Amino acid sequence: MTLEGKVAIVTGGTSGIGLASAEALSARGVKLVLHGRRREVLEQHAARLPDCAVLAGDIADPATPEALFALAIERFGRVDIAFANAGLIHTGPIEAIDLDALSEMIRVNVDAAFRFAYTAAKRFKAQGSGHLLMTGSVLGTKVRPNAGGYCATKYAVEALCEGLRMELAGHGVKVSVVEPGLVRTDLHRDHEVRPEVVQNVPEPLLPDDVARAVVFAVEQPAHVLVPRVMVLPAGQPV
Ligand SMILES: NC(=O)c1ccc[n+]([C@@H]2O[C@H](COP(=O)([O-])OP(=O)(O)OC[C@H]3O[C@@H](n4cnc5c(N)ncnc54)[C@H](OP(=O)(O)O)[C@@H]3O)[C@@H](O)[C@H]2O)c1
Repeated sequence: MTLEGKVAIVTGGTSGIGLASAEALSARGVKLVLHGRRREVLEQHAARLPDCAVLAGDIADPATPEALFALAIERFGRVDIAFANAGLIHTGPIEAIDLDALSEMIRVNVDAAFRFAYTAAKRFKAQGSGHLLMTGSVLGTKVRPNAGGYCATKYAVEALCEGLRMELAGHGVKVSVVEPGLVRTDLHRDHEVRPEVVQNVPEPLLPDDVARAVVFAVEQPAHVLVPRVMVLPAGQPV
């Protein structure tokens, strides 16, 4: 399927997986609405990428999903792809876990992602077309110690995608979950020891490696759905 002229909303579009996916889509002629908190970074992307509108703010603001769709429709007339990708990680042992940080992660990874997903699902069902993608994780399919809360948020994303996919089957709307292993991004910026060292991963993925999986999912012909796409570093012993 050609992506030329399609319109995509990408949350978490300032950096990492969201930005790499947006750039890969843009290279195929997709028009973009990017979201993140860092306004100046978004504006730099908008200046560089053709047909790129941006909205800065907190993804957990309940008004954000509708505002993103309204901006896309005002600027480009439609929405074809909605990528719920914004997220953060907070992990740690029982003695050290920061419950406020844990709660903030649940707010962004689950509450905000679900609001965005349902907004997209409702609109796509009404228009009879569209592709919702969500960024899950390999840790949405298996759990590791010290990361129970983060894994739980990604298991929640998996469950929602499964449910929405079944609800939307036969309505012309696709739902896919992208499940990366360890990717070298800003996600672990606060970690004292690099996650590749802790997890014994010689060479983590790069954001572009995940972006190729996103493009693979959205480029399929109308009758083909890729419901889940897991991408791991070849050396990740997970
Ligand atoms: N890196 C990995 O190893 C890995 C593996 C599996 C899954 N993932 C998932 O991949 C997704 C993207 O993460 P990444 O690795 O690409 O890290 P990243 O570079 O830190 O990207 C996270 C994105 O989320 C946005 N974001 C976070 N909190 C937000 C908030 N409250 N409001 C609005 N935007 C917010 C950030 O934008 P601002 O900073 O501008 O707000 C940023 O664009 C996440 O869902 C993460 O859980 C990552």
